[in-house]
Amino acid sequence: MIRTSRLVLRCWRPEDAPAFYAMNQDPRVIEFLPGPMSMEQVEAFVTAQQALFARTRACYFALETEGQLAGFVGLKRHDADSLLPFAPCADIGWRLAPAYWGKGLAGEAARACLAYGFDELELDEIVSFTVPENLRSRAVMEKLGMVEDTGGGFAHPALPLEHRLSRHVLYRLRR
Ligand SMILES: CC(C)(COP(=O)(O)OP(=O)(O)OC[C@H]1O[C@@H](n2cnc3c(N)ncnc32)[C@H](O)[C@@H]1OP(=O)(O)O)[C@@H](O)C(=O)NCCC(=O)NCCS
Repeated sequence: MIRTSRLVLRCWRPEDAPAFYAMNQDPRVIEFLPGPMSMEQVEAFVTAQQALFARTRACYFALETEGQLAGFVGLKRHDADSLLPFAPCADIGWRLAPAYWGKGLAGEAARACLAYGFDELELDEIVSFTVPENLRSRAVMEKLGMVEDTGGGFAHPALPLEHRLSRHVLYRLRR
């Protein structure tokens, strides 16, 4: 568990599923994501994060504020056999319910995750990526001091090349 002044970052629990499902139906949340998540996908996500944490000591942590699930912020490690062109790597990612946007919560949680990644996991670099149009997410990256790798733009390997969300920008931060 990681604590900041306003937040708790912790492993996922099965009881988180309904709140995470609800936020993943909101058009504002999924504007730059492939679509809404079904309850089956949410349950698989929760199980996958639990397994990732057990295996790598990193995952997209459940983010709690005032006892409520606000979304996730966390780290994901990608092995050399990942299809990401810059793997092996560790990425930092975030997704909050809109009620929690614009309060600096993503940045606050992300700073704690960067410290965890660099100090506890001894990562040399943490990357982040999103579609070019996701200016809120890019603003968080830039506030964290991450720098765009202007030669590092890539087509996301999980999506067809012609998909509207295929093209991604890449940001990097060294330890
Ligand atoms: C990205 C996200 C986590 C940001 O959460 P947040 O709590 O609002 O983030 P913060 O408050 O720390 O910072 C947001 C920044 O974006 C800026 N911003 C907001 N709307 C913006 C816009 N339309 N254009 C440019 N910047 C914008 C804000 O001004 C703020 O920067 P500032 O603190 O310098 O003013 C949240 O919007 C979200 O969950 N989005 C949906 C899921 C998603 O897209 N995740 C990322 C996938 S890669």
